Amino acid sequence: VQDENKSTAAKLPIGIFDSGVGGLTVVKQLKKLLPNEALIYFGDTARIPYGTKSPRLIQQYALEDALFLLQFDIKLLVIACNTASALALDVLLENLKIPVLGVVTPGAEAAVKETLEGKIGVLGTSATINSDMYAKEITKRNPNARISSQPCPLLVPLIEEGWINDEITALTLKKYLKQPLEDKVDTIIMGCTHYPLLETAIQKVTGGGVRLIDSGKETARKVKELLKKSGLLNIESKAKESQFYVSDIPDKFEEIGSLFLGEKLSFLERVDFDRFLISNKDHPFLKK
Ligand code: DGL
Repeated sequence: VQDENKSTAAKLPIGIFDSGVGGLTVVKQLKKLLPNEALIYFGDTARIPYGTKSPRLIQQYALEDALFLLQFDIKLLVIACNTASALALDVLLENLKIPVLGVVTPGAEAAVKETLEGKIGVLGTSATINSDMYAKEITKRNPNARISSQPCPLLVPLIEEGWINDEITALTLKKYLKQPLEDKVDTIIMGCTHYPLLETAIQKVTGGGVRLIDSGKETARKVKELLKKSGLLNIESKAKESQFYVSDIPDKFEEIGSLFLGEKLSFLERVDFDRFLISNKDHPFLKK
């Protein structure tokens, strides 16, 4: 009976949430690595950015986003947003009954493995950098690591404007990378959903000697590992269509969305606020 339950559970979708479209870079990696899995995405486009907000608000938003996804009977929750992973993973682990994975720990773990001299740069939103979560996760694994953390608040808007190969973005990067490069980092964590789109631009500034870590890619690997280990990998050969929900459909959303995802968004729906705002503490998906 237990095996039967497992194989039924394996067919359930994976839920992924982010503060907006950025998390689609994580979906892209998940789709590549786990083509059989059904994915349900929620992007909180109405309340983006999270990266400039206070910890308490980010935690509340993250919980609401998670509860929306739990309506779909998901087997696993992935926090694609670095800011929400840095500030709200603990809150979600404490309150939810299903496994939850953030992007910070996998990114930190990969950086510790990749670095040659233990000098690691971390780029992220202001909230992510202020939380110091990447630094904590790195130091846990390598107490001697030297970490150079750099908030890069201008990068998200530049990328959402589509300025990927642009001289203004290149100049901005140069300025943000100045300190980490002076600190002689040999590895840099792209600690934000959006930054993988700038991988080439970042590498141009750092030169080839610096290794870049994509936290989303590392998380996709972790998700696969976890599903395998717990017998929850979907072995059915045909992938179901991914579903994308957002709290608002802003101007140019589909254009930017496909830029992040690398393909067109097939199923897209806007959800009403009352479907995901916490209205009572006795919510059925919360631990008592
Ligand atoms: N998704 C956020 C992150 O990865 C970036 C956008 C925002 O500030 O909400 O940190």
